[in-house]
Amino acid sequence: MPMVLLAQLSDTHFNMGARNNERAERVMAFLAELPQRPDAILVTGDIADEGDIEEYQQARAALIADVPVLILPGNHDDRGNLRSVFFPDTSGYGPINQSHTVDGVTLALLDSSIPGKPEGLFDEETYTFLTDLLAAAPADESIIVAMHHPPRPVQSTVCDPIRLTNPERLAEIMAGDDRIIAVLTGHVHAGVMTQFAGKPLIVAPSVSSTIGLEWERAAPGHVPIDFAPDPSLVFHSIQDGELLSTFRPIAMGGWLSEPDD
Ligand SMILES: [Fe+2]
Ligand SMILES: [Fe+2]
Repeated sequence: MPMVLLAQLSDTHFNMGARNNERAERVMAFLAELPQRPDAILVTGDIADEGDIEEYQQARAALIADVPVLILPGNHDDRGNLRSVFFPDTSGYGPINQSHTVDGVTLALLDSSIPGKPEGLFDEETYTFLTDLLAAAPADESIIVAMHHPPRPVQSTVCDPIRLTNPERLAEIMAGDDRIIAVLTGHVHAGVMTQFAGKPLIVAPSVSSTIGLEWERAAPGHVPIDFAPDPSLVFHSIQDGELLSTFRPIAMGGWLSEPDD
């Protein structure tokens, strides 16, 4: 099987302001100039900040590439408005579940959002979507599950209380299917690598801001959101059923610049 290269962005939080738009555009420009093009660009939720239609129009204009750009909803998103801009052929407020296959790698893009709530949940419909996808996928396929909410705590005082609330069935499905090699999420605004169901769980950092984990919280109630760091993304290289991931910060102010000395 050839190598499949996936670029994962997360939590762009388009809010009609210039800042977050410029950060997303900078990351997309970086990806557009790579000598080896990613096979797909995945954006793991919180596409918009308030879920307004104008924010999705802003996102739609910025998240443009000559490779597939795959987006899924987060807790800040509005399924109806997201659908009307990104999936105009569909309608309604049901979960937005999708799959995308390239060269023996299938991405299961699952909707973990709950309309109007910050925490995550897989509806019965979403679990059925995943089990149907697994039933139809070839035996030698590599499968990656992608969604917004991490299915376990990751030592984030901000996001652990609003993680996926019903992960037990996902853990069972993942542990019982050797084709599933990893789960990718966003939501935490921090790059995190840990395990879920004995497999890699990789949380992509946010394009818009960084949230420190529990040891950065100065006092109860203090939310350590850091707006200074540059945006960052994750590359996932998948080959022969194995995943290699690397976190890549993208400087807003420069491009392959020489060190000052
Ligand atoms: Fe977010
Ligand atoms: Fe989120």
